[in-house]
Amino acid sequence: MTMLQAAHAGSFHVVHLPAADDFDFWRDCARALIQARVPPDRISWIEPGGSGDLFAQGDLGVPAPIPGAPPVRANRRFVNLARNAALHSDPERFALLYRLLWRLQENPGMMEDKADDDVRKIEELDKNVRRDSHKMHAFVRFRLVEADEAEGGDRYVAWFEPDHHILRANAGFFMRRFANMRWSILTPRGSLHWDGETMTEGPAAERSDAPQGDPMEDLWRTYYASIFNPARLKIGAMLKEMPKKYWKNMPEAALIPELVAGAQSREAKMVEKGALEFDERPETLAAIDKAISACRKCPIGLLDNHAVMGEGPQDAALMIVGEQPGDQEDIKGRPFVGPAGQLLDDHLQTAGIDRSAAYVTNAVKHFKYVQRGKRRIHQSPAAKEIDTCRWWMESERAIVQPKLVLAMGASAARGMLGKTVSISKARGAPIQLEDGCELWVTAHPSYLLRLDGAARDEQVRLFDNDLRAVRQRLDEIAQLA
Ligand code: URA
Repeated sequence: MTMLQAAHAGSFHVVHLPAADDFDFWRDCARALIQARVPPDRISWIEPGGSGDLFAQGDLGVPAPIPGAPPVRANRRFVNLARNAALHSDPERFALLYRLLWRLQENPGMMEDKADDDVRKIEELDKNVRRDSHKMHAFVRFRLVEADEAEGGDRYVAWFEPDHHILRANAGFFMRRFANMRWSILTPRGSLHWDGETMTEGPAAERSDAPQGDPMEDLWRTYYASIFNPARLKIGAMLKEMPKKYWKNMPEAALIPELVAGAQSREAKMVEKGALEFDERPETLAAIDKAISACRKCPIGLLDNHAVMGEGPQDAALMIVGEQPGDQEDIKGRPFVGPAGQLLDDHLQTAGIDRSAAYVTNAVKHFKYVQRGKRRIHQSPAAKEIDTCRWWMESERAIVQPKLVLAMGASAARGMLGKTVSISKARGAPIQLEDGCELWVTAHPSYLLRLDGAARDEQVRLFDNDLRAVRQRLDEIAQLA
């Protein structure tokens, strides 16, 4: 240990964070403090509005980097958890993060020790913060504030009370989801304002700063009543997902007692009619496009993603169905534009199928993924999620009325048939659907991308055979018409 390091190790450092959610600032300070070998119990981390350590003597702040000091070690799991945990409202969080980072230098594998108190604590903070963000995505309700263009025009304003410092971290989500609206989200911890081009941050607000009611509430109520399914009413689960705390900001919550009271008789009527769903089918593709963006019938829609609508002529004879949008499709807002789409395009061309004459869509409309560092890793949708999303694909099919559907992969086949089938057994022959449409099943192009060598050659051959058979059927159908 050098003289300088020894001095740091013996003295007390008080670090003032410029903002309660400033992880990057904490990280830069923590690196310098670790390199100067300042132990965790010699640092006090103070966030804005926080009080100092009563026993702290002197205020050395952050030491300058020490030339030649070994690099600070932090694995990806720690960084991912720490970035989220830093947003927690626990005043001890930055001290915890530093303690973990300090210990990681000696024991790089410690993050895998599930019994370690510090590891358990950071996991708990991370979980609480993620849950708070999910609640914010699901329960923010905007109310219209009308204003002349001279005053900036109409604006949608929402009031929300997060438990943690999650506002800034979620700005991107609301910016992408409501890109074309002017909106403000007011919270007791700060506010965000979007004018369609620029995001600005504002001070903490009070509930009375937000409007209390407007005509949009009727829309929300109508929407909620229309998606309310008494057959699925589980009050315990509903309270868990929608804690009473959020009810006061949600106009549709006013309906809950009434809907619960009427649930039994509505369910009886549904059973009588054999109906599974309450919703009216949208009558246009544009209406489906709009509705899927707002769809939260399954949790995939709560991720940071966009609904991707099918595309192609409304009178297409062929409808091609994939599984769900991937990363590229989510970014570009169009189906099959990433690597699987490129492979599909090549093979359609080989088979003589004109993609631009087909209606191309997916069984699930939102991209399901897990975040690993900067990458979003694809996750297959669960059967329940495919079954829930079937409503939208069936609505598209009811409008396009294709003569033939090509379902690529197990998820697409399940979306079409409502049950799981084996691709190897189902492929090669048409399956007649009730409305006279023919269903052809084949492998998903992503499956081919994952193979190599002889296995890939064989699957490519089968895929090309399936596409050729579809092309032949399309020609025959066209001749009969
Ligand atoms: N995979 C799919 O199933 N659909 C797409 O749109 C892209 C990749």
